[in-house]
Amino acid sequence: MNSAAEISKSLKSLVQEFEKALDQASLLQEVEEVRVAFLGRKGRLAEIMSSLPSLPVEERPGIGRLANEVKAELNRILDEKSRDIQNRLRHEDMSSFDHTMPGRIPDSGSFHPVTRVINDICRIFVGLGFDIVTGPEVETDFYNFEALNLPPGHPARDMQDTLYISESVVLRTHTSPLQVRTMLKARPPLAAIAPGKVYRRDSDLTHTPMFHQIEGFLVDTDVSMADLRGTLTAFAHEIFDPQVKVRFRPSFFPFTEPSAEVDISCVMCMGSGRSDQGGPCRVCKETGWVEILGCGMIDPAVFEKVGYDPEKYTGFAFGLGVERVAMLKYGIGDLRMFFENDLRFLNQFV
Ligand code: PHE
Repeated sequence: MNSAAEISKSLKSLVQEFEKALDQASLLQEVEEVRVAFLGRKGRLAEIMSSLPSLPVEERPGIGRLANEVKAELNRILDEKSRDIQNRLRHEDMSSFDHTMPGRIPDSGSFHPVTRVINDICRIFVGLGFDIVTGPEVETDFYNFEALNLPPGHPARDMQDTLYISESVVLRTHTSPLQVRTMLKARPPLAAIAPGKVYRRDSDLTHTPMFHQIEGFLVDTDVSMADLRGTLTAFAHEIFDPQVKVRFRPSFFPFTEPSAEVDISCVMCMGSGRSDQGGPCRVCKETGWVEILGCGMIDPAVFEKVGYDPEKYTGFAFGLGVERVAMLKYGIGDLRMFFENDLRFLNQFV
């Protein structure tokens, strides 16, 4: 049987023994083994304390207190040792880090060619004094057709392969509804452009179900076809080249009268119709011209729908195909390139 004096002596020497055992340990695993041997359920401390019940009752509290102090001290030493080992391991890790290696350069984004062309076109027209307006892609029959002089049953509705949401709600087939929306809100004089997505039930080599248009319109007193010609010619010279030729071909749109389609001399073959190699130019199909937009003088019937006096006001409008312009501007032969999001293609526009 151990006396209180013996127990207290064993407890005190336990600290030195513990330190000695830890000195041998260089891995966290070994530290853990020492912890179990000293502080574990069947460890040295527990073993010493197992003789506590045999002491006289009045001696137990003193020994108990000493045991708690020793236990706290062992834990403190243990924590310190573990921290030392962890620091050392981290340092060894860092010494294998090659700080002469070049850093990784993050990928940088860039604007999609369609966005670039929209931005370019908007910039040109803003420079000419036009405002920028936008509107919904899901549009009512009223704005997409009816107010544009296309009443129900009008044969020209078939010109545009409409995607219907319901009988009276469509995905807009063109940006022309923005003419109506803007004119209903403002009074002349006004000049605005409206860029955005449009949708048609159409998909082949040269058509995608979604594409982009930019609508432009100007209303004032005494606006003439000459203003339209001048504006669009200045625009074509700015976006393509001052050398580019512009021609107006008579056409038909229910919301403009007279109407025209605008061609520019083919920027691929410089209007020659022949490719560099002497073969036929694929872009203009040998004609030397490519169509870029539809336009005309706003029909008096549209002015009536929005409450403008057709006797007082005249105006012009045009609708331009953004992908078409982008293809010509960047020499892209295939419309589908714009929608495949192939990074090898997109990375060229930085
Ligand atoms: N909205 C017509 C289209 O999509 C283009 C256009 C706009 C024509 C404005 C005349 C005036 O084909």
